[in-house]
Amino acid sequence: MTTDLRDEGERWSLDELRARQLERLQDTVRRCYANVPHYKKTWDEAGVHPDDIRALSDLAKLPFTDKLTLRDNYPFGLFAVPREQVVRVHASSGTTGKPTVVGYTREDIDMWAGVMARSIRAAGGRPGDVVHVAYGYGLFTGGLGAHYGAEKLGCTVVPISGGMTERQVQLIQDFGCKIMMVTPSYFLSVLDEFERQGIDPASTTLRIGIFGAEPWTPAMRTEIESRCHMDAVDIYGLSEVVGPGVSCEAAETKDGLHIWEDHFYPEIIDPVTGEVLPDGEQGELVFTSLTKQAFPVIRYRTKDLTRLLPGTAYPTMRRMEKVTGRTDDMMIIRGVNVFPTQIEEIILAEPGLAPYFQCVLSQPGNMLELTVLAESNQTLGDSERLELEKRISKRIKDNIGTTAKIEVRAPGGIERSVGKARRIVDTRKSPLPT
Ligand code: DLL
Repeated sequence: MTTDLRDEGERWSLDELRARQLERLQDTVRRCYANVPHYKKTWDEAGVHPDDIRALSDLAKLPFTDKLTLRDNYPFGLFAVPREQVVRVHASSGTTGKPTVVGYTREDIDMWAGVMARSIRAAGGRPGDVVHVAYGYGLFTGGLGAHYGAEKLGCTVVPISGGMTERQVQLIQDFGCKIMMVTPSYFLSVLDEFERQGIDPASTTLRIGIFGAEPWTPAMRTEIESRCHMDAVDIYGLSEVVGPGVSCEAAETKDGLHIWEDHFYPEIIDPVTGEVLPDGEQGELVFTSLTKQAFPVIRYRTKDLTRLLPGTAYPTMRRMEKVTGRTDDMMIIRGVNVFPTQIEEIILAEPGLAPYFQCVLSQPGNMLELTVLAESNQTLGDSERLELEKRISKRIKDNIGTTAKIEVRAPGGIERSVGKARRIVDTRKSPLPT
C-alpha cells in the first residue's frame, strides 16, 4: 500500500471514522424519513424516529429492508431525490419477474468510482496499469462499476465485457493487460483458452486478478494462482448497496475483504431471529449506506453469510471473511446443510477433475437428492470414471457428512458461463442440464 495514494476516508483514525459514520448515518436516516414514503411509514409503525439515532448501536432500532422492499416499490419508489437528479439506473433480474432497480446521482457515481479505485489499489493496481474489464456491461453493475473505478485510479481501461473468449486472450496479450476484472468462473474459461492456444498464461503481462460477483474458495485462489502468475484477490458488492467495491481484499494480506466503512456500515445478524451478533460470529451480512443520495438503503439484508473480523492491511476498516454462500443457496441434504463452496473445495482437491461443477437437486420421492456434476480433465474409461465418482462421493460423505451422487462427465461436459456461474440447478423447477 503506497501511503500517499490513500484517500481521505482511509486516513481517518478509528475515532474519527466512528464519529463520521454516526454523522453520516444520522444524515442518511433524516433524508430517508423526509423523502422516502416507505421509510416514513415503516418507522412510524415501529415507533422510531430519526432523532432516536444517537449512537451507531441505535441502528438496531430500525426495521430491515430486503429484496421484497425493492419489489414492492418498483421501479423508483425508494429514490430519495427527484428522478431528474438520477443520472443512472442499474437493475438485477429477479427470479419472480420484476427486476430490482437502483439509482445513482452524479455524486453517487463519483463515490462509487472512489471506492472502486480504492479497491483496485488495495489489490495492487496503480495509475497507468492496463485493466481488462471482462465483467458484463449493462444493467449489471460489474462492468461499469469496475470501469469508472479503474479510470478514476488513472488506469488504461479495456472495456471488453464478457464473452468472445478467443478475443479476450488476444487482447490481453496485444494490450499488455496487467489487471483482469472478471468473475472467477469465467476467468477459468479464459485460462483454458490460453492453454488451448498453447500459450502459458504465466508468461503474459497479467499480474492481478480482481474476482467477485459470486462465491469462490481459497482452493480456487490456489488453482488460479498456480496456473497464472498473479495475485488473485476477492472483491464483493451488490447492486442494492452500490455494486462492486463495497469491500475488497488487500493483495499483501489476502485474508478477507476490507469493508469501506466510511461509506457502508456492516452488521451481522442471526438470519432466523434478526438479532445483531457480535463481531467474529457467523451470520447474515446487513448493510446501511452512509453517503448515498439517490438510493440510500437502511439495514439491507444481503442474504450473504460471513463474519466480521478486525482490520489488518487497513487497520480501521473491519474485514468480512470470504462469503461462504447465500442463505438461499443452502441445500439441506438429508438433514445436512450444504453450500456449493464446500463442493468446490472437494472438486478442486481432486487432480483428475477440471475446476467446473454444478449441484443438481431433484426429489424423486420424499427426500431431496443432490447430484454433483463434475468434469474429468482427460477422457476416462468406464472403470476409471466409476472409481473417481466413488472417491468423490466418499470425500463428500467424510468431509460434509451427507450423501451425494456424482456424475463425472467428459472434458467440456459442464456448462460454462461468461458471468456468474450457475452452481445450483433445481430440477424441481428446471430440467437437468445435458
Ligand atoms: O454481483 C456486484 C459485483 C460485481 C461484485 C462484480 C463484485 C464484482 P449483484 O448482481 O447485485 O451485484 O449480486 C450481488 O452477488 O449479494 C453475493 O451473493 C454475490 N457476490 C458478489 N460478490 C461476491 C463475492 C454484483 N466476492 C450478490 N463473493 C451478492 C461471494 C459475491 N459472493
